[in-house]
Amino acid sequence: LSDGPLKGRHVLVTSGPTHEPIDPVRYIANRSSGAQGTAIAEALAALGARVTFVTGPATAPRPRGVQVIEVETAQQMLDAADAALPADAAICAAAVADWRVTSAAGSKLKKDGSGKPPTLDFAENPDILRTLSTHARRPRLVVGFAAETDDVIANATAKRARKGCDWIVANDVRPETGIMGGPENAVVLITEGGADEWPRLTKAETARRLAARIAEALA
Ligand code: C5P
Repeated sequence: LSDGPLKGRHVLVTSGPTHEPIDPVRYIANRSSGAQGTAIAEALAALGARVTFVTGPATAPRPRGVQVIEVETAQQMLDAADAALPADAAICAAAVADWRVTSAAGSKLKKDGSGKPPTLDFAENPDILRTLSTHARRPRLVVGFAAETDDVIANATAKRARKGCDWIVANDVRPETGIMGGPENAVVLITEGGADEWPRLTKAETARRLAARIAEALA
C-alpha cells in the first residue's frame, strides 16, 4: 500500500453490471463497462487506501493493487459488500439490475413447439446503496451514482435523499454525450452543500478528483 492521505482507511467499491440468470445459459445484463468504478478503485489505492472491489462481470480490465471480489448477481454483490464491512467509505458505482428473474430455470428453456414464448416473472433486487446507507455498520461516507438523461441536478438531488447516502455523483448519459461506455465523464457532485459541476474529464481524472474529495472528507 502506498503512503498517502487514505493510508489506514478501508474503502468498498462496487462496480460493473450484474447478470441475472434466466436459465443456466442465459441472463439479463446491462451495458456498464465498469470503467469508472475501476478508475475510482485505482485512484483510492494510489492515495493509500485498502480497497475491496466488488465487481460484476465487467469488460474493463480489473484494477491493480486492490482486493477484487467477482460476483454475478445483485444478491451476490450485496452479500459480498456486507461481508466487506466495516469500511470507512463505500462507493457504489455498480449498475445493479433492478430486477431478477424469479422463475430462473434449472435447465435450459426450450421451444416446446407450441409457438408460445415463455413468460418471465421478476422480483425487485435489493438496493445495495440504500442498504449500506441505512446499515447498522454504515460506512462514514457513502457515495452513490446517478445516470440521468434529464434534469440531472434535480433528479440526483432527489436520489440522494431517497437513498440516504452522503454524496451522489451524477452524470448525463444521453447517447449524444458519448459518456456511457466512453473514455470521458462530466459529472455533478451532489453533497449536503449543493451541486458542484465538474468539467468534462477522462474517467481516470474524474476518479482522481473524487478520490481526493473522499480523502478530505475522511481526514
Ligand atoms: O436510482 P438508481 O437505483 O439507478 O441509483 C443508482 C445508484 O444506486 C448507484 O450508485 C447504484 O450503484 C446504486 N444501486 C445499488 N443497488 C441497486 C440499484 C442501484 O447499489 N439494486
